[in-house]
Amino acid sequence: MIPRLSPSFGFSDLSALLKGWIGKDGGEVFEAAFAEYTGKRHALVFSYGRSGLYTLIKVMGWHDREIIMPAFTCAVVPNVVIASHNKPRFVDVEVRDFNMSPRAVGAAVGRETAAVIATHMYGFPMDIVGLGKELKKHKNIVVIQDCALALGSYSAGAPVWDMGLAALFSFSIGKQISSVEGGMIVTDDDHLYAEMKTLRDRTFQNPGMVRAFKQSVFFLASWFAFTSWFYGPVHFLAERTAALNFLADYYSQDRIRLPDNLMEKLPSCLGYLGAYQTSRIKELLTKRIDISRTYGRELKEKPGFHWPVPQEGTSYSHCPCLVDDRDNFLDHMAHHGIEVGKEVFDYALPDIPVFVPYAQGVYSNAREIAHRLALFPNHPRLTQGDVERIIATARKWRTT
Ligand SMILES: Cc1ncc(COP(=O)(O)O)c(C=O)c1O
Repeated sequence: MIPRLSPSFGFSDLSALLKGWIGKDGGEVFEAAFAEYTGKRHALVFSYGRSGLYTLIKVMGWHDREIIMPAFTCAVVPNVVIASHNKPRFVDVEVRDFNMSPRAVGAAVGRETAAVIATHMYGFPMDIVGLGKELKKHKNIVVIQDCALALGSYSAGAPVWDMGLAALFSFSIGKQISSVEGGMIVTDDDHLYAEMKTLRDRTFQNPGMVRAFKQSVFFLASWFAFTSWFYGPVHFLAERTAALNFLADYYSQDRIRLPDNLMEKLPSCLGYLGAYQTSRIKELLTKRIDISRTYGRELKEKPGFHWPVPQEGTSYSHCPCLVDDRDNFLDHMAHHGIEVGKEVFDYALPDIPVFVPYAQGVYSNAREIAHRLALFPNHPRLTQGDVERIIATARKWRTT
């Protein structure tokens, strides 16, 4: 079965990981490589993007404040905001690019607003210039760029992480580059960096050999599991049994859950892997973008498919399309051995029980996206033959 996502691991990545078992300070190696790639003065590595966000919120000293974010984003973002004793302020997104419009952000700003998390869903850049204009009169509101899905995205000719106080990245399996687990905060602010580094280095635990070993095994398992040869049984286990539920544990809908190692440093071997993946960014992004554009072009006229408006600077962490009768389409593709995905968080976030108390306003666009979103496989391990097969199979689908 063709998997929807697959980490781009190979022998050179394995060799980088193994080097990390001998070499020290993999985290610093990764930070240096990533700061260079992003052009930022500082990069701070964590086990998850959310660990970085949590540390940032702590350092900023926010308590009982509102943090503006899209109603359609990863559920772990509001989880962290609530866990840090603050409040998510959800803003509906635009159907055309899955992002908040600057005007909607401006309308949500209130006396309690501390920050805006500007998210670039699936690598579609939010209108950063518009956001800057909208927030011009609110000098105290901080912008944090959520680039978990936006490596390589740019808006008005500049990388999306250029604007604001800091930007967050994530490197879990399935992201544009992966260090198995991992996240990064980048910033040009010397003071913020120094404070965050001190807090991380003082309070985060060292991971220990067992965690490094487990994550190295996970590297090998995911390298093989997400290939066409092995993915059939994996997909069966995920869909039909509870065996792999632990992978989606942190997306729980009835309580706030954070990983047990939220405040643990990244194992050194994963740092070496991350640094090596960083050196491959250009090659990996180019392939994803090419594949995604091919689907958009070849399936443009297909009835029932609504492609997002292509824009300059979109880096396509995923290849999203809104499909009428989406679940029927997913079944059709799965029947032909192709996994087209939907989101783990298949809801407008304010509709999820744990976030209902924070709902304010109308979230019809986020709801519509969640119900119709289909994520086509676009990872760099796909062959030309795979892409042609996916297109041909999608063309054969007839809406009921
Ligand atoms: C948009 C977005 N923001 C933040 C995160 C959090 O990243 P992490 O899982 O590394 O904490 C994710 C994770 O997938 C995400 O998709």
